[in-house]
Amino acid sequence: MPDPTPRPAGSSGLSKEIPMSAEQFRKLRDIIYQRAGITFTESKKYVLESRLCRRLQELEIDDYDQYIAFLSTGPYQGDEFNELFNKITINETSFFRNPPQLDAFEKETLAGLLAARASHKRLRVWSAACSSGEEPYTLAMQVHRTLGLRLGDWKIEILGTDISERVLEIAQGGRYTDYAMRGLPPLVQQRYFRKDGHEWVIDPAVAALVRFEELNLKDRLAIKRLGQFDVIFCRNVMIYFDDPMRKQLVSMFHEALAADGTLYIGHSETLRDLGVPFAQVGPATAFSYRKLARAGSGEAPLGAGTAPGAPTPARPGSKAA
Ligand SMILES: C[S@@+](CC[C@H](N)C(=O)[O-])C[C@H]1O[C@@H](n2cnc3c(N)ncnc32)[C@H](O)[C@@H]1O
Repeated sequence: MPDPTPRPAGSSGLSKEIPMSAEQFRKLRDIIYQRAGITFTESKKYVLESRLCRRLQELEIDDYDQYIAFLSTGPYQGDEFNELFNKITINETSFFRNPPQLDAFEKETLAGLLAARASHKRLRVWSAACSSGEEPYTLAMQVHRTLGLRLGDWKIEILGTDISERVLEIAQGGRYTDYAMRGLPPLVQQRYFRKDGHEWVIDPAVAALVRFEELNLKDRLAIKRLGQFDVIFCRNVMIYFDDPMRKQLVSMFHEALAADGTLYIGHSETLRDLGVPFAQVGPATAFSYRKLARAGSGEAPLGAGTAPGAPTPARPGSKAA
């Protein structure tokens, strides 16, 4: 078998197309699904082919069987998965993406939680699949401006996770291009960013509220280790998962949320038919779901403003998912 050890990127000068057979596509598709839960249907073969072709060229591998062998065995397996996910994931995101949803977060969920947590003053928010950090930094700006001078009294943790190392590096750097500033309200930009050359640097006071971690949403143990959150944002990633993966993930979110916790999902995603107890709350444009207790769990859901442990009356206007 030819030596599949990778060589330095860009050393080959190769630019030819590398055809992927139907069989090779199926093998790669299965590997990607098993590892990350991301589905590629037959009609998306060309997408995988065009994204991976560059990677094979970087490695100076000229057929997919060799690449599959490299990915499936040997000492570089883990590293190569990172490279693979860097190539195949779609990382489109922006600051203040979907404003009606973020308004609901700030005015309803956050305001309610600050009242409910007033005695112990701790708040944990998870931006699951955060891409290059715009989503968790947006949430941090909202928490920062809502708490104002009270911020120092609170212990706030906003965790951003993603499977792709490449986007997490950008997130951790906290430096963004003009393009990333698109749609950002000018006052927010002035207040929370500083221009440095061609880049915009996030305010250190906001950055201090956020931390980033590499995490694969397929990895149940890794999710369990994160502990409990008051709010989870998981937007625009479940569209790449099939129903069993979505169900597994939403069940994990249910477990990871506090009894009065809220889950925000993307505008083209749904929790319907997953059988996990959540109730839609707020306006339809908020795509926000309040955790309900599992039948027979003995766990009582809490209402905003209620002391932990106290039962809550059903929230008006909430619909079971
Ligand atoms: C379209 S972006 C969404 C970013 C942000 N949540 C938003 O809505 O603006 C999707 C992100 O999901 C990440 N992703 C895909 N599969 C994943 C998995 N199995 N575990 C963790 N992150 C994953 C990708 O790397 C990508 O950054």
